[in-house]
Amino acid sequence: MLRPDGCLLLLLLLPLLLLLAPGPAEGEAAAERLSPYFGTKSRYEELHPELLRDPLSLGPPQPGFPLPPASCAPLQLGAVFRHGTRFPTRKQIQKLGRLHGLVQGNAGKCNASAASRLARWTMWLRPDMDGKLAPRGRRDMEMLARRLARRFPSLLARNRRFAFVSSSKHRCLDSAAAFREGLRQALDGQQQGTSQKHATTTEGIETNDKLMRFFDLCERFVKDIEDNDTAMHELDAFKEGPEMKEVVGEIANTLCLPVNDLNADLVQVAFFTCSFELAIKNISSPWCSLFSEEDAKVLEYLNDLKQYWKRAYGYPINSRSSCILMQDIFKHLDQAVTESKSSKPISSPVILQFGHAETLQPLLALMGYFKDEEPLKANNYHRQMHRKFRSGRIVPYAANLLFVLYHCDQATTPKEEYKIQVLLNEKLLQFPHTGETVALYTDLKNHYNEALQNCHFSKVCDMPKNTTQGDLYVKGTK
Ligand SMILES: *[C@@H]1O[C@H](CO)[C@@H](O)[C@H](O)[C@H]1NC(C)=O
Ligand SMILES: *[C@@H]1O[C@H](CO)[C@@H](O)[C@H](O)[C@H]1NC(C)=O
Ligand SMILES: *[C@@H]1O[C@H](CO)[C@@H](O)[C@H](O)[C@H]1NC(C)=O
Ligand SMILES: *[C@@H]1O[C@H](CO)[C@@H](O)[C@H](O)[C@H]1NC(C)=O
Repeated sequence: MLRPDGCLLLLLLLPLLLLLAPGPAEGEAAAERLSPYFGTKSRYEELHPELLRDPLSLGPPQPGFPLPPASCAPLQLGAVFRHGTRFPTRKQIQKLGRLHGLVQGNAGKCNASAASRLARWTMWLRPDMDGKLAPRGRRDMEMLARRLARRFPSLLARNRRFAFVSSSKHRCLDSAAAFREGLRQALDGQQQGTSQKHATTTEGIETNDKLMRFFDLCERFVKDIEDNDTAMHELDAFKEGPEMKEVVGEIANTLCLPVNDLNADLVQVAFFTCSFELAIKNISSPWCSLFSEEDAKVLEYLNDLKQYWKRAYGYPINSRSSCILMQDIFKHLDQAVTESKSSKPISSPVILQFGHAETLQPLLALMGYFKDEEPLKANNYHRQMHRKFRSGRIVPYAANLLFVLYHCDQATTPKEEYKIQVLLNEKLLQFPHTGETVALYTDLKNHYNEALQNCHFSKVCDMPKNTTQGDLYVKGTK
């Protein structure tokens, strides 16, 4: 690559270059290079880069969406949201405090510029920020509301009723309120100049953890998975595996720390901090410069493994516990179809439900989305390089799953009058069973009939009174 005289020049310049080039990546570029791998801590804009320039952009037109307005009119919109950008949890903030302490304590011993910049970094996260919605998260939801009002102008309209449902967590209630505010702005915009009272400021927000935090209330999930020390064994094995070991080693080296002072959890918290500073503050954090793109892929896999085994296909109870929410969605769809058939007004044309990544991920798994042929495991990182299951693509902040029910004229049979489309994060999804982006409502309902019929919360979630070995546990995914 270099000719001999180039080598000499390089040798002379080397000390200077080392001073100037701090670690694997510097400044602006670092966060941007890593941001595709932030998993559940991804910005929504990662999926829609056009929103970085214009947060109200609807992006390029999508073939097949919406259905042609001349023949099909939206009848109902059911939406399940993840809250917007949030602060780290108390636990994450405390871990970061420990890591930052280590780096600061070591500052004198380490000349690497990454380490000295981290030692100078100010710890601005306080434990009481504990998972709350960040100002940025309010904006996420406001803008999302305004975009949805543009996408569905006949449904998100002034004369409509909106049903707001939320998990009891502050970040979800605050997300619902921010969405409502965005909706108010959008609807005021629709009818500028009138002095009519704001249509949406008075809509109440119903708290319903049974729907939005089913995972907390499902005893079988809590006992078998959440509180079970061995249920995450693939995740634990990956933390000690060769890929993760290499990342930990590199980071220890960069920070001039003994490798035993670091572990996968601390390295992950450094990576999270890079993602949080980008999402919350829109800056490229010095924590980002610790990581190469390859490191980021490994850390993304670590995050996905947890989602997979705790919230998705890893164990059947993960997704089954969400069937209550699925039932609720189909109950509202059914009701709209019934009302439409008898020419009544639709009582719930817009249902807006605010929950968590942990609400959406199991529901998507129950519906059969993003299922890879092979399970995600500690030992198949390389084979899973092109997996479907990438949580940053599925449940970034402000993730949203939309069920759009249409009434279509010119149908040849009554069955063909009601059609449905599903969008994830404002992008049309293909139904897993047909590969199409539109389905007849009755066909979709039939497809999910078993999950809907066999969904009794107590049957799904109660622990058997007297367990005989094995039968309560059906190992998932083969
Ligand atoms: C760090 O730099 C100082 C001054 O340049 C030097 O004296 C010291 O030996 C260096 N320490 C290490 C661990 O490289
Ligand atoms: C915990 O998880 C392991 C691994 O999936 C399973 O074999 C075991 O039965 C579970 N234990 C309990 C108490 O549910
Ligand atoms: C975020 O930062 C980028 C680059 O520094 C800037 O162009 C953009 O306007 C910022 N966005 C917001 C919403 O502050
Ligand atoms: C079933 O319940 C009885 C009475 O509570 C108890 O003695 C027994 O050990 C239980 N069996 C199992 C397998 O848990």
